[in-house]
Amino acid sequence: MESYKNLLHANKIWVDRHIKNDPSFFENLAKDHKPEFLWIGCSDSRVPAERITGTQPGELFVHRNIANMVVNTDVNMLSVLQFAVDFLKVNHIIVCGHYGCGGIQAAISHRRYGLLNKWLRNIKDVYRLHQAELENLSEHELTNRLAEFNVVEQVYNLAKTSIIQRAWHFEKRPLIHGWVYGLDTGLLKDIIMIGHETQLDPIYQFDFSDLKTGNPD
Ligand code: CO
Repeated sequence: MESYKNLLHANKIWVDRHIKNDPSFFENLAKDHKPEFLWIGCSDSRVPAERITGTQPGELFVHRNIANMVVNTDVNMLSVLQFAVDFLKVNHIIVCGHYGCGGIQAAISHRRYGLLNKWLRNIKDVYRLHQAELENLSEHELTNRLAEFNVVEQVYNLAKTSIIQRAWHFEKRPLIHGWVYGLDTGLLKDIIMIGHETQLDPIYQFDFSDLKTGNPD
């Protein structure tokens, strides 16, 4: 059987299994969309958000890109973020990186990757910020430590957006978590958590004193 047909076949088995347990499983799912979590993860196929967290359809709102980046000019990511925060009212955002990340390996390799160079530049900037702690490490250690620093920086990149700061100011949510997943262990490592009491460098702080509500601009 052609490999793609396996996917369609597996889908039918998956549907049958759910309907057997709960005949209205899909009807109920279709009625509402109220995920509690926004997941920003790497596109790597070995880090499937729902599988590794034991979550079901309806629980995670998901955005994935190469090396789980939060780039402040990425309209795709910002649209996902704004919808999740302002309309779905998520209570938690999880930025999940992983050890052995190909995007991070590519960023430190000096090799040219065409268009991808522009995306990887954002990771090189994270390296530069933490260079003192990274430059004497072996390549393996460097990749993994940079995966951790990268998650921390992307968590703070979320906090630098007016979307997050407005929600923190008016609704004291969401909490933002940074996790790193071990491909060879299956385990998630909790690296950082920040929330509305976080003090950002003043240059990044927006003034909300002219707003009466947290409604989107
Ligand atoms: Co990756």
